[in-house]
Amino acid sequence: MGVSRSRAQEIYLWRNRSCGYYPFLDASAPVGLVPARRASAPVGAAMKIALGVTGGIAAYKAAEILRQLQDRGAEVQVVMTRAAQEFVRPLTFAALSGKNVITEMFDGTSGPNAGSSVEHIGVAQSIDALLVAPATADTLAKFANGTASDFLSTLYLATTAPVIVAPAMNVNMWQHEATQRNLDTLRRRGVRIVEPGSGYLACGMIGAGRLAEPDQIVEAVMETLGVAQDLKGESILVTAGPTLEPIDPVRFIGNRSSGKMGYAIAEAAIRRGARVTLVSGPTAINPPAVAEFVPVETTQQMRDAVVVRFPDASVVIKAAAVADYRPRQTASRKIKRAGNALTLEMEPTADILAELGAHRFEKQILIGFAAETENVIENARGKLAAKHIDAIVVNDVSKPGIGFNSDRNAVTIITAEDSLQVAESSKFDVAQRVLDTVVRLRAARLSSAQASGSSIQLEKAENK
Ligand SMILES: Cc1cc2nc3c(=O)[nH]c(=O)nc-3n(C[C@H](O)[C@H](O)[C@H](O)COP(=O)(O)O)c2cc1C
Repeated sequence: MGVSRSRAQEIYLWRNRSCGYYPFLDASAPVGLVPARRASAPVGAAMKIALGVTGGIAAYKAAEILRQLQDRGAEVQVVMTRAAQEFVRPLTFAALSGKNVITEMFDGTSGPNAGSSVEHIGVAQSIDALLVAPATADTLAKFANGTASDFLSTLYLATTAPVIVAPAMNVNMWQHEATQRNLDTLRRRGVRIVEPGSGYLACGMIGAGRLAEPDQIVEAVMETLGVAQDLKGESILVTAGPTLEPIDPVRFIGNRSSGKMGYAIAEAAIRRGARVTLVSGPTAINPPAVAEFVPVETTQQMRDAVVVRFPDASVVIKAAAVADYRPRQTASRKIKRAGNALTLEMEPTADILAELGAHRFEKQILIGFAAETENVIENARGKLAAKHIDAIVVNDVSKPGIGFNSDRNAVTIITAEDSLQVAESSKFDVAQRVLDTVVRLRAARLSSAQASGSSIQLEKAENK
């Protein structure tokens, strides 16, 4: 039967397509071309990072660093020194970040409110980390000496968030005793220094002082924030949301799934370093920064979107609430009201998870969601074996206020070897526990492959 919730849990709705509940529904648009209108923030609270850009040749590389931070799900506020603006225009960063770039301590407003804004304190209190890349010798000196002469140096003093600096400068400036002493001071204070590399420098000299690579800098930020990169190398395909089965051009049968659970998994997986593809039924939530977002509507469209991407996925997590049945026929014209009763004949939809399980590659990890009310562990283990999958996440459907259409959930994660009960918590926390299971299953898979002498490469799944 269906891959996610039992039929008893699905609440079928006669819903008119004109209602605003599903914001990106457009019956006329072909699948894959439906625009995702951004209706609200993603499920997990985004990491907030202030990116300070200072006046060095490498300032242009901050654009790539900004992009990579966004790929990891971070919300970035760029702060530029005056010197930095001589190298790159703030517009570049404003366009990439979608936010105004902070360029001045005083915003130049005249009148009675001039200078009354305390933006540096607001930013200082809201960020999870301050990254300065590239960091000039001058800015490092300001930080070390506690000089608050511009927005960035004032922000450094005002924030209690962790600070990471990636210096870049001429080799003599880097080796100068003054610079090295400033760096020692900062290190002692707990500032993380991403050491520059050696090689040809823009000034024509050879030696240390070249900005570290953007991915190394972003890695250092993630490590500092305690975001484990334990899913790096995995390509994770996540399904989310409900499916809608058309009755006629304006009506459908759907369910109450909000998509929040699948979106939380997608977002948490991005943060942990995975490449994520999200195949989603219609929802009202803002997709996270996935590598590919595929909006679908019906179970058949979801099946087709998943099957075509399956060979490239090292992990599949099916959190969507897929309809188990659909109307056998879809009326080509709107069914008109008549006095008599209306009977809809239903037929089963595709069992996507069973199909994937039957065609899986040896190295792939498959996880499904289900709602069970009785003999939970026994039934779930039965499904694991019958569908050839690795884990089932069973929703606790006994408590009101969790599960469907809620920000919270309580689940049991069942594998062939064990079961883990996750007490009621946010869907983002539940998502992290599901991903911990992926990491455990991968480790077990690797060690059994090593024991049998075969090698596993995540990049290319080989057929069994
Ligand atoms: C073309 C040019 C390139 C520069 N490159 C660097 C550099 O890579 N690293 C550095 O520390 N200073 C560099 N400087 C010097 C800084 O721009 C200068 O010290 C400035 O005051 C830094 O201000 P800020 O730290 O507020 O951005 C460069 C200056 C010029 C004119």
